[in-house]
Amino acid sequence: MSALILDGKAFAAVCYEKLKPRVAQLINKGYQPGLAVVLIGGNPASQIYVRHKIQSCENLGVRSFSVNLPENVTMQEVLNHIQELNASPNVHGILVQLPLPKHLDADLLIEAIQPEKDVDGFHPWNVGCLVLGKQALYPCTPYGVMRLLEHYDIPLRGQEAVVIGTSNIVGKPMARFLQQAGATVTLCNSKTRDVKAHTRRADIVVAAVGKPSFITGEDIREGAVIIDVGINRLESGKVVGDIEFETVSKKAGWVTPVPGGVGPMTVAMLVENTVLAAERISGLAGN
Ligand code: GUN
Repeated sequence: MSALILDGKAFAAVCYEKLKPRVAQLINKGYQPGLAVVLIGGNPASQIYVRHKIQSCENLGVRSFSVNLPENVTMQEVLNHIQELNASPNVHGILVQLPLPKHLDADLLIEAIQPEKDVDGFHPWNVGCLVLGKQALYPCTPYGVMRLLEHYDIPLRGQEAVVIGTSNIVGKPMARFLQQAGATVTLCNSKTRDVKAHTRRADIVVAAVGKPSFITGEDIREGAVIIDVGINRLESGKVVGDIEFETVSKKAGWVTPVPGGVGPMTVAMLVENTVLAAERISGLAGN
């Protein structure tokens, strides 16, 4: 293996250490940060993600509020819960775990969250601020990737970056972040004629596809930076990303592992956003 590892697990631990005094200061002033997690239905992957999020909050002294609702809950019932959380002085962050059952409108629910408490960074207000390059609560996965790249001093200015996947959660904000950092960005979608032609010439590839082994060593340039956002559970139970680690790691310059790469950064940024939201709401924020 020649690639160096972008160790998200290790850097997430550094991020948590830096949050400790901020949480202590908030608690001292009587504002223990609080995150409300709305989980609807019984999606097993969502249940695991939510458990990680709540555990990471509790490890740091951030209070968590679980709102578990049945699969057949109505829009109005979910909206009522969100309104209650918006009004609660103990709740500084609210997230609605996605995906949702088909009868629920995710956009409407996200828009109902007070933007100052939208720690997922999905509300149109926060998305607009991101696009305009303003302060906001940023979406956790792409922001976590940016922080990881910064931590390892990976140059972005003038680099060719290819993002595969155009979701609101990852692909679109990821492309915007990279563009803002001075990269030239190609955003590939499921209709892109020849995705691999793009990845083969890229300095940086971000794969958010949801297909195991989508990117192999043959699909990348020698020395490229490869970011794997995929989380795919194989029939064997093993969790793998979108890249074929064995071949990619022989050729890339840098690579994120799965698990232990982007995933831990997503959760760390969620906790950081919750602390930041608490600081802003309580008037303790310097920014
Ligand atoms: N589902 C997959 N990723 C995410 C995320 O970052 N936030 C929420 N709320 N749901 C998700």
